[in-house]
Amino acid sequence: MPDTFSAQAAMAVLDDGGNAVDAAITAQFVLAVTLPEAGNIGGGGFMTIVKDGEQRFLDYREEAPGAAHRDMYLDDEGKVKTREPLFGAKASGVPGTVAGMWKAHQAYGTLPWARLLAPAIALAEDGFVVPAHLADRVAKYIKRTSQRGIETNFADHFGDIESNQRFVQPELAATLRHIQQHGHDGFYAGKVASQIEDFMEDNGGLITTDDLAAYQAKWRQPLSLSWRDFTLVTAPPPSSGGVAVAQWLNMLEAYATTHTMPAHNSPDYLHVMSEIGKRVFADRAEYLGDPDFVDVPVAALTDPAYFARRASDINPTAISPSKPVEPGLIESEDTTHFSIVDKHGNAVSNTTTLNLSFGSGMVVAGAGFLLNDEMDDFSAKPGVPNFFGAIGGEANAIAPGKRMLSSMTPTIVLRDNEVALVTGSPGGTTIISSVTQTILNALAFEQNATMSANAPRFHHQLWPKDTIRVHPGFDTGTLKHLEQMGYTLDRRRFGDVQLIKQDSTGLSAASEQSGRGEAMVRDAHTD
Ligand code: GLY
Repeated sequence: MPDTFSAQAAMAVLDDGGNAVDAAITAQFVLAVTLPEAGNIGGGGFMTIVKDGEQRFLDYREEAPGAAHRDMYLDDEGKVKTREPLFGAKASGVPGTVAGMWKAHQAYGTLPWARLLAPAIALAEDGFVVPAHLADRVAKYIKRTSQRGIETNFADHFGDIESNQRFVQPELAATLRHIQQHGHDGFYAGKVASQIEDFMEDNGGLITTDDLAAYQAKWRQPLSLSWRDFTLVTAPPPSSGGVAVAQWLNMLEAYATTHTMPAHNSPDYLHVMSEIGKRVFADRAEYLGDPDFVDVPVAALTDPAYFARRASDINPTAISPSKPVEPGLIESEDTTHFSIVDKHGNAVSNTTTLNLSFGSGMVVAGAGFLLNDEMDDFSAKPGVPNFFGAIGGEANAIAPGKRMLSSMTPTIVLRDNEVALVTGSPGGTTIISSVTQTILNALAFEQNATMSANAPRFHHQLWPKDTIRVHPGFDTGTLKHLEQMGYTLDRRRFGDVQLIKQDSTGLSAASEQSGRGEAMVRDAHTD
């Protein structure tokens, strides 16, 4: 059963005359109450907007606290202490979500801020009936962390959650009310900022009231570039996602100028796309980081001549060599995404995260919200993979005030300046594959919204060597063929695509059926 809390609250905002940005703000705050795995006020994210034809990108990614430093997660022997950037107070970057929502509202909001927060406050104050999958994930998380001796205060706050029972969060409700009354400063100054600083001091974390006061969400130029007859409007650095998706789509186009375009989800398609994925992830590791700290050669990485050069040495029948480097832990990837189009044709694509499910596992005492463990998205030690098995370089080393590299890729695709597709997904580094393949499904292979969101997907991120992660649902002959070529198959689902497609038949929406989202379309068809 899908969770409909945020979709219903966002639809009510649209019904009240709000625009797509208003609806997005409401959805974001509702998710902070009903989807504690990833929805948040203690994390961050990115929002891609097309409003009245204008393309905007809002970066509300977390940033490293002022006391952070390059080697903060290394032990005396220079080895990465792998748990520290993932669990506990020291794993958290300075949260960006409230600043992001406030900035979006200042620029585009039409309904009052207080109205937009009201549904989240009601759900925290009066409670909501806990879906079985949430109760199940909470129980598993508590069991797993306790078995591994990981110390957090998660169970104190979420241990009482029971399936089909009402769950009330009075502390979170009070924090949301404070934000409702005081806007940006309701989180970054005064009571809540002090609660965060006190909590950090008590638990070995680094975030101070000065860090919070200094935090700003940033408007950035979205990555806007051509692919076929479309314009991709997507995430620039500090996300790696937009560059990666643009590379993946355009290297496939470049390949198809000299070879036959492989059939959808055929062995050739998975092989060629995997070869491109290796090139994309090699570039990601080397060049991508926070553009306010490092020069990211975005223009060079997205130059058509570069696409052609990189695609030119793909061998259509054999795997190219790669150095053997093993990834780190592989567990669940979390994050959440929503896509919205309003009646004026404005679109919002928003991806937000605490990083892993339930973030750092730490709930700010008295304030009732989970903090992120986004510090793991930095490269704790260049060349050593993070949780997602992603290897980073100097460009993504830790520095005070720097934003950690992300894979979140909220994307809007335009055709003749009209919105043709709005999409995104959770899933760490697999987000890049989910978004790329969804765009291909919907616009190159012309699948409808439901098929585009649900066709089996695959992911290759260079390491582990020659390994393709595959969804259930691929043809056995295809998988056998890939194994015969020398690929190792990692058979695990990833991602949770949310998409809206507009074509000559109108607007349709889909939410991946294996996930928990809900697609709703007013006065049009939902397929
Ligand atoms: N924390 C996952 C990402 O930002 O890519």
